[in-house]
Amino acid sequence: MQRDYDIVVFGATGFTGKLVAEYLARSGPQTLKWALAGRSVSKLEHVRKGLEAIRPELGSLPIVQASSEDAGSLVALARRTRVLLTTVGPYTLHGEPVLRACTEASTDYVDITGEPQFVRNSIETFDAIAREKKVRIVHCCGFDSLPHDAGAYFTVKQLDQTKPIALEGFVRTGGSTFSGGTWNSALEIISRGKKTASAVPRVKTARKVQGQKPRLFFDREFRAWACPLPTIDPQIVLRSASALDAYGPVFSYAHYAQIRFLATVIGGAAGIGAIVALAQLKPTRKLLARMRPSGEGPTDKQLKNGWFQVTFRARSGDRTMVTRVSGGEPGYAETSKMIAECALSLVSDRERLPAQYGVLTPVVALGDVIVERLKTAGMKFEVLRDS
Ligand SMILES: NC(=O)c1ccc[n+]([C@@H]2O[C@H](COP(=O)([O-])OP(=O)(O)OC[C@H]3O[C@@H](n4cnc5c(N)ncnc54)[C@H](OP(=O)(O)O)[C@@H]3O)[C@@H](O)[C@H]2O)c1
Repeated sequence: MQRDYDIVVFGATGFTGKLVAEYLARSGPQTLKWALAGRSVSKLEHVRKGLEAIRPELGSLPIVQASSEDAGSLVALARRTRVLLTTVGPYTLHGEPVLRACTEASTDYVDITGEPQFVRNSIETFDAIAREKKVRIVHCCGFDSLPHDAGAYFTVKQLDQTKPIALEGFVRTGGSTFSGGTWNSALEIISRGKKTASAVPRVKTARKVQGQKPRLFFDREFRAWACPLPTIDPQIVLRSASALDAYGPVFSYAHYAQIRFLATVIGGAAGIGAIVALAQLKPTRKLLARMRPSGEGPTDKQLKNGWFQVTFRARSGDRTMVTRVSGGEPGYAETSKMIAECALSLVSDRERLPAQYGVLTPVVALGDVIVERLKTAGMKFEVLRDS
């Protein structure tokens, strides 16, 4: 494929896009051909100035102007690159024209959406055409949902894949906060109400793949409350499980937040309930959106000290296995690393990637290769118990 660039970072002026650019500047191969893209050239130049401090030669990194409101600029952008990496969100508002441009230009695509309705629309509109053109559209390459998707895959790969597997995932995070972009995308999701709860369809399969009934319980093994977490993550795990035989003939999954104290569970539920109620009406949603504007996010200290753990417990026959995926600040430091590694994988590992095309989960698109890359990049994948 003759293209000007291997990777273009679209949305490089945003909080997360800038971190992605910094990650590529520090950890991308010296030979990588890449560019920054966005709607404001002066803002992009400012980001490039910051990259120059990391590697002086990046002072001449190409800049491309494109807007999600200008379809022509997106097609021109997509035609110049092998992989389009986009952090322009909320994706429900800005994502579809980018997907259209990538399928039209036969360009691979990665994003960090956590918006179920957007992923559903993408599957319905672009899966068939992307398969036909052998394009990989890979959603959810950030904390939503890569550690959960890759962690579930890592766990089932340790087990006998001819036996039924019941898997639970328990998420803990700390030391950080969210950005304006995430806040606005979350308000977008919440305002769509219950439609999001099972929006991402599974792939048709003769195997039995299903969600477990959510319940709040005190988990004696982990000495913490397990609180059902209805994010996009369990939907992505189940989509991967329905696409790949590695998850066994019968697979079920449940996804929880792991919380030490019941008071925190109750306080959190009340807070979320209030936000859900306020997000239903346009005027109060606007007021909420103003609380954290676009471009703001965690401090450098929070990016350095934040952490996450996703612990998985698999039951298969008489065997129980506990595994864990863990790393640093999840929402932005690790997210920028994760999406960058997914894009680098699409550029550099093509010979080793599964022959899967269309609208894909990270694990279906990148398989073992992304687990290896994340480990090399410092994320831990461990087996804690096998009994
Ligand atoms: N899955 C995860 O774990 C995860 C983690 C982090 C973020 N996210 C998601 O990633 C997205 C970005 O988050 P963020 O915190 O980086 O947001 P942000 O700081 O608000 O950045 C948004 C970016 O989109 C650009 N943009 C907005 N409208 C545009 C348009 N019409 N055309 C082209 N570019 C446009 C902005 O450009 P300007 O600078 O010109 O305004 C900016 O570069 C959000 O949807 C968020 O939910 C997901």
